[in-house]
Amino acid sequence: MSDLVIECQGLNKAYDEAGQQVEVLKGVNLSLAQGDMLAIVGSSGSGKSTLLHILGTLDTASSGSVRIKGTDVASLSRRKQADFRNQNLGFIYQFHHLLMDFTALENVAMPLLISGQSPKAAHAQAEEMLGKVGLAHRGGHRPSELSGGERQRVAIARALVTRPSLVLADEPTGNLDKQNALRIYALLKELNRDLKTSFVVVTHDLELAAKLGRAVALDDGVLVEQALHSEA
Ligand SMILES: Nc1ncnc2c1ncn2[C@@H]1O[C@H](COP(=O)(O)OP(=O)(O)OP(=O)(O)O)[C@@H](O)[C@H]1O
Ligand SMILES: [Mg+2]
Repeated sequence: MSDLVIECQGLNKAYDEAGQQVEVLKGVNLSLAQGDMLAIVGSSGSGKSTLLHILGTLDTASSGSVRIKGTDVASLSRRKQADFRNQNLGFIYQFHHLLMDFTALENVAMPLLISGQSPKAAHAQAEEMLGKVGLAHRGGHRPSELSGGERQRVAIARALVTRPSLVLADEPTGNLDKQNALRIYALLKELNRDLKTSFVVVTHDLELAAKLGRAVALDDGVLVEQALHSEA
């Protein structure tokens, strides 16, 4: 058994645009060990979200292989993929995807309820995680009553509440001011240190990318290792 949480080889993704094949990923190779943190940078439209969705079993590659924690995720049924996500992955979407009819607390508790925890236990853990993203006082609010940055932090809490071994985050601090962005990065680092959580974080902020220790750029469909200068 390897301790690789992500093993990705020769990943290709093409979209069919009005009969034209648009190649977005052209042979992406990526290995990530349990407990590693990785930033993905790259210009808008370079395919960062596409890659993250494939890693998160939310989309499928045109060709190539993806193993997450040793599992060939593409070979699982939709149902098994959903279970796999619930048990192993935390996904922070570029656009928060909160359930609008539920409160912040209920949104954060949802993955725990789905995994079979009691409402009492789920709400207690959701409350704790909302506190960690600085929203202890907002649990009773619906997403429509929250600011963009607050919604983003609720979505982060929802992704982290199950203590997943791999977190995939698509611009998690894109809507946040510097102070809140730093708070989120401190939280990711804390989970990484305490639980060996692995993180893949798409970001435009190179300073924050440097805090993660390793960065790759998505450039013309492939990943290119980046030299980092500032230290965390
Ligand atoms: N469902 C789709 N159908 C067709 N083309 C798509 C689809 N999803 C994405 N694309 C195209 O794939 C390319 C990569 O998109 P993607 O969302 O992965 O970029 P990104 O790097 O995340 O950009 P951003 O930084 O703006 O979020 C874009 O050119 C986009 O138009
Ligand atoms: Mg994107």
